[in-house]
Order: sequence, then structure tokens, then C-alpha cells
Amino acid sequence: MALADYIDNKPVIETGRLIIRPMRVSDVPALKKWMPDRSIYTYWGKGPSKAEMNPELLFAKTERPTKSFHLGIAEKHNDEVIGDLWVYLIENDRMAQIAIRLAKVQQDKGYGTEALKAMTGFCFANTELKRLWTQVDVRNTASCRMLEKCGYLKEGLIRQGKMVNTWCDYYIYGILKTDIQQQ
Ligand SMILES: CC(C)(COP(=O)(O)OP(=O)(O)OC[C@H]1O[C@@H](n2cnc3c(N)ncnc32)[C@H](O)[C@@H]1OP(=O)(O)O)[C@@H](O)C(=O)NCCC(=O)NCCS
Repeated sequence: MALADYIDNKPVIETGRLIIRPMRVSDVPALKKWMPDRSIYTYWGKGPSKAEMNPELLFAKTERPTKSFHLGIAEKHNDEVIGDLWVYLIENDRMAQIAIRLAKVQQDKGYGTEALKAMTGFCFANTELKRLWTQVDVRNTASCRMLEKCGYLKEGLIRQGKMVNTWCDYYIYGILKTDIQQQ
């Protein structure tokens, strides 16, 4: 399938413990538990938006059809959304940025690695994307480690650059479709 095929039909991806799926209004109580928590925004490049403080606002407008993915990460055993991820800023259907975050209480259980590995594999197996990349604050040890465990390479260091809305030292991490084929 091509990215265009996912404009209206977003994918559902299963891993051992997780379901990565579109979010719905019924997820609001679960999102309220963690999305406004400022501690998850320490290295996010910006604080919570109005909609992230009030997750019901995420569903107030109908989502614009797009090739990009914003999906919830739910625990399989109870289907509760404990995090979310993005594949966004797609350029020429070839390169896109990724971002992922999890509720504080769900961090350091291997979920980030499990979800990112699955999403990366999905993109390379099912879309035209050839490169995924992200910016990571150098102090974000968990994110660097997660990316490395998913096969992303540290490609460079930007000193005092603009990462989203903050100025910091950050790494560029990237992975190519051919990197996965070689693993
Ligand atoms: C980044 C994030 C998604 C990682 O997900 P996670 O589920 O916590 O990570 P995992 O459990 O898969 O762990 C990945 C590695 O990081 C390590 N790690 C996890 N939390 C850590 C922490 N607080 N400090 C240091 N290392 C940590 C783990 O030990 C593991 O490494 P190891 O296998 O060598 O032991 C999660 O920490 C998060 O949501 N952070 C807030 C949002 C954010 O900063 N997102 C990334 C923006 S680029």
C-alpha cells in the first residue's frame, strides 16, 4: 500500500503488548490521566497545548484527512491509551519525522522501544517512506537509548539549535529502509 491509501484509513498495528491505533472520543478519560502532565514535556520542545491540557478538545474538530499518522498507543490487555506517536512532516512521500511519548507511569517498561520498532517497521514495509528521523535533546537519555535499540543511528549533533520551540543541544537520529533490510 502507499501513503495515500492511509489518508482516510489509518492503520492498526499490533505488537506483543500494545495496539497502535487511531484515537477516539472514548479515549478522553485515559488521555486526561497523562497528557496534561508537564513532566513528559521536559524534552519535548514545548509545553502542553490547550488541547493537550484538555484532551476532549482534540476531538472537537474533525481531523483533516492527511497522509501523516498520529496514533494512540494502547495496552492490549485493557485497550487503554497510554501514549501516542506521530509520523509527520512527510516530504515527497520519502522522508518523515517521528515523535513518541508515553505516560510517566508507563515509561521504562520497554513500551517505547516496542511501539517505535513496530511503527518504523510498518512504515518501511507498507509505505514509500525511505527515511525516518527525529531531533532529540542530548539530555533525553531514554529517548536516545530507545532510538538506538530501534536501529536509528545518531547522525549528528546540533549545538544550541531550535528544537521545536526551544533552544538546546540536540542530536539528529535517522534510519533508512535499507538499514532495516541489512539487520
Ligand atoms: C522517550 C520515551 C518514549 C521512551 O519510552 P520508554 O518506554 O520509557 O523507553 P523503554 O522502556 O523502551 O526504554 C528504552 C531505553 O531507555 C532506558 N530508559 C528508560 N527510561 C529511562 C530514564 N528515565 N532514564 C534513563 N534511561 C531510561 C531504558 O532502560 C532502555 O534502555 P536499556 O534497554 O539499555 O535499559 C519515554 O521516556 C517518554 O515518553 N518520554 C517523554 C516524551 C519524550 O521525551 N519523547 C521523546 C521526544 S524525542
